[in-house]
Amino acid sequence: MSKITAAITGVSGYVPDYVLTNKELETMVETNDEWITSRTGIKERRILKGEGQGTSHIAVPAVRELLKKTNTKPEEVDLLICATTTPDMVFPATANLITAEVGAVNAFGYDLQAACSGFLYALATGSKFIESGQYKKVVVVGADKMSSIIDYTDRATCIIFGDGGGAVMLEPNTEGLGILDSILKSDGTGAPFLHMKAGGSRKPATIETVQAREHFAYQEGQQVFKFAVKGMADVSAEIMERNQLTGEDVAWLVPHQANKRIIEATANRMGLDNDKVMLNIHKYGNTTSGTIPLCLWEYESQLKKGDTLILAAFGGGFTWGAIYLKWAYDPK
Ligand SMILES: CC(C)(COP(=O)(O)OP(=O)(O)OC[C@H]1O[C@@H](n2cnc3c(N)ncnc32)[C@H](O)[C@@H]1OP(=O)(O)O)[C@@H](O)C(=O)NCCC(=O)NCCS
Repeated sequence: MSKITAAITGVSGYVPDYVLTNKELETMVETNDEWITSRTGIKERRILKGEGQGTSHIAVPAVRELLKKTNTKPEEVDLLICATTTPDMVFPATANLITAEVGAVNAFGYDLQAACSGFLYALATGSKFIESGQYKKVVVVGADKMSSIIDYTDRATCIIFGDGGGAVMLEPNTEGLGILDSILKSDGTGAPFLHMKAGGSRKPATIETVQAREHFAYQEGQQVFKFAVKGMADVSAEIMERNQLTGEDVAWLVPHQANKRIIEATANRMGLDNDKVMLNIHKYGNTTSGTIPLCLWEYESQLKKGDTLILAAFGGGFTWGAIYLKWAYDPK
């Protein structure tokens, strides 16, 4: 019997309507469009507005679209993994809120938190449930409402992040397509450089933590930048090397969208031209777990069966990794 691999058989995405431009940020903090564009590549990002709206409100429309596109009945879904750093609530898992909302009554679900590498980790994890032969339909979601943990008085972080997400369907494949290799890494000594100070069990919410603005993402950008450039490029080169791939073999790099300069450094190290690099950071900024599925969603019509893709990410933790996959379908 041929080996079972986990292939992506559909992809979807969702971004909220509200567009927060660099111009509008100029009215909120001491910054300017030129600085943001040249340092990060970001022009605008989306914000989910409205009371009671959480990450699941980004994920649910994406999952509904995915089920429709892949002709899947909600009750056929076996498992839904939601990668997110901004769950609707500490518990229950956002995955459970999503499955309930879309009617995936037979699916079990859980959240996975690996900051900006969350979608990569979730995709690698989800693929194992398919490869084992135990499950046939696994939905992997990456979504974040970053605006819920961003301090819009802190110019070092508020210019970078946005809200959005996407989802993919994983199904068994016996043609040698789908996820073929993954490298996942983490190093907790990176925690001081990117974290949220309060709101966890170590420092629960108090009036003081709120007043000290400790429920927002704290980032030492330069430190993160240094590790991100090296981490993402190293792991992408490593996965190519161990699969004997050259830049010419790779159809697309699908990089986490944190900073255009980090993406360019990674592509450079892999020997890839810019036209092989998926890019939408200018429109959405860094949507954390959302960036990679949003890229796949936007570039889906350009992907052909058999295309070699390298997915790469770096994020808080630190966490980082790369996935090597072969695209499983032609544009529909
Ligand atoms: C955050 C980031 C864009 C900042 O860019 P940078 O080139 O490192 O900028 P620095 O922090 O060194 O700041 C340079 C100067 O710009 C200023 N500056 C910082 N933010 C600014 C802003 N939004 N607008 C204008 N000026 C700003 C700084 O105060 C500093 O001024 P100084 O030289 O007078 O002290 C960059 O470090 C980055 O992208 N880091 C990685 C982020 C990341 O990947 N995070 C997610 C993990 S996945």
